[in-house]
This record gives sequence, C-alpha cells and structure tokens, in this order.
Amino acid sequence: MLRVCVLVSGGGTNLQAIIDAVNEKKITDTQIVCVISNNSGAYALERAKNAGINNCCISPKNFETRDEFNKALIKKIDEYKVDLVVLAGFLVVIPPEMIKKYERRIINIHPSLIPSFCGTGYYGLKVHEAALKRGVKISGATVHFVDEGTDTGPIILQKAVEVLEGDTPEVLQRRIMEQAEWELLPRAIQMIAHGEV
Ligand code: GAR
Repeated sequence: MLRVCVLVSGGGTNLQAIIDAVNEKKITDTQIVCVISNNSGAYALERAKNAGINNCCISPKNFETRDEFNKALIKKIDEYKVDLVVLAGFLVVIPPEMIKKYERRIINIHPSLIPSFCGTGYYGLKVHEAALKRGVKISGATVHFVDEGTDTGPIILQKAVEVLEGDTPEVLQRRIMEQAEWELLPRAIQMIAHGEV
C-alpha cells in the first residue's frame, strides 16, 4: 500500500481529483494518509475533512524561524510513514533537507508544459497570465519529481491543452485543470504505486 501525503495551499481541486480517483479505483493500492496545508483557510482542508482524511495546517507564520517550520513539516510527514509526498498546489518552498530525505518520493503538478512558464515566480494564475501574454497556442500541465531546483526535476507526465481565442487567465486555468491536471496527477500516482515510473 502506497502511503501518500498531499500538501496543499488553496482550493484543492487536484486533491479532490486524487480522492475521487482512489474512490473510483482508478488509483489502487494507495492510501491518502494525510493532507497538510500551510493555510488554515484553504478549502482543500474541507475536502480532506469531508473525505475523512487526517488533515492539519502547518504554516510558516506560526513559527519563529523558517528552520522551525521546516522541522515541523518534516516531523509530521515522518510521523505518517509516508511513501510519496504529492504537491497539489502547494505554494511553499520545500525544505532542502526534506528533498534529500524524500529523494524521488516527492512529485509536483505544474500548470504549464515545463520548461515553459515555470521556475521562481510562476505559480497559479501567474503561469496562465504569462502564457497568454506570450501568445502561445498550446499550454498544458506537467507532473514531475521535485529536486533542489524550482520545477527542474525529472518529468513523469505531460499533457498539452489548446489556448483559445479570448481566453482569460481564469478560463485557461480551468481548461488546463479539467483537461490535463485532474487526469495527470492521479495517473502519475497510480504509476508510482505500481512501480511503473
Ligand atoms: C493548480 O493549477 C496547480 O497546478 C498549481 O496551483 C493550482 C492549485 O489548484 N500549482 C502551481 O502553480 C505550482 N507551481 P488546486 O488547489 O485547485 O489544486
């Protein structure tokens, strides 16, 4: 059984896609053992509660130093004996010591075709604003392993999504979620659970 911890910051639609895929048995031999948010108001925490999944908030704001926050986050993940950490819209930099400790056991979903529109400063709607500003005709999503860089780890899955005339960042974001993110992230977890990556 693959023990998964999902880290979130916001609405949690990707978390929901994972929960649904587990319930629908599109993801098998996998248990979501905890959901951690850095933001106590994140709707993602409600989604976890509704699904009966252990959840908590660990926020840098509640610690005097970044080091204390990092230690608390790692301690919580260790407690749950997690095999795979999934960053599903988690907007906090992952501590380097956690990346080392959980090498090839942390994956992230990014809402563009890496290496386009990724790296420092590219998150959430900002990614789609940049894609529209550049005038690309195709964007998409990427699931990748997390390494020491920002969005630089080995790519697991990618899917392209068309940019349409008149798209706003919000409309493009939603299309990329619907057509790519909510499909890719559960698929990557299923592949990892079955040793296919
Ligand atoms: C998603 O679009 C995800 O790809 C993005 O944040 C959104 C979270 O939505 N992640 C990043 O930009 C990471 N760099 P959700 O909370 O509804 O899953």
